[in-house]
Amino acid sequence: MSKIIFIAHDGSRREVPGTDGESLMEAAIGNRVPGIDADCGGSCACATCHVTILEPWQSKLTPMGKDERAMLEAVSDPDPTSRLACQIRFSAALDGIEVRTPASQH
Ligand code: FES
Repeated sequence: MSKIIFIAHDGSRREVPGTDGESLMEAAIGNRVPGIDADCGGSCACATCHVTILEPWQSKLTPMGKDERAMLEAVSDPDPTSRLACQIRFSAALDGIEVRTPASQH
């Protein structure tokens, strides 16, 4: 089974199934992962799906678009590895990806 690992600010880990084509946000919401609210439903308009990406996974992601970059400029705790979980589509290449949810979203 493919998996996505969400790591909370306190270090607790949640492993959820990854499905091809589904966003990391959808996987989090579908499995009730704390720290991902997704208020806009995935339309890149709220940044409540902000996550930071651990290596080596960051370099495997497709580059972020202009809208995602603009939304990330507004988060309260930006990081060089910040991304929006709704803009990352899961695929087999991301099996085992580890992402952190920021303390501000808990
Ligand atoms: Fe709103 Fe990702 S769910 S920006």
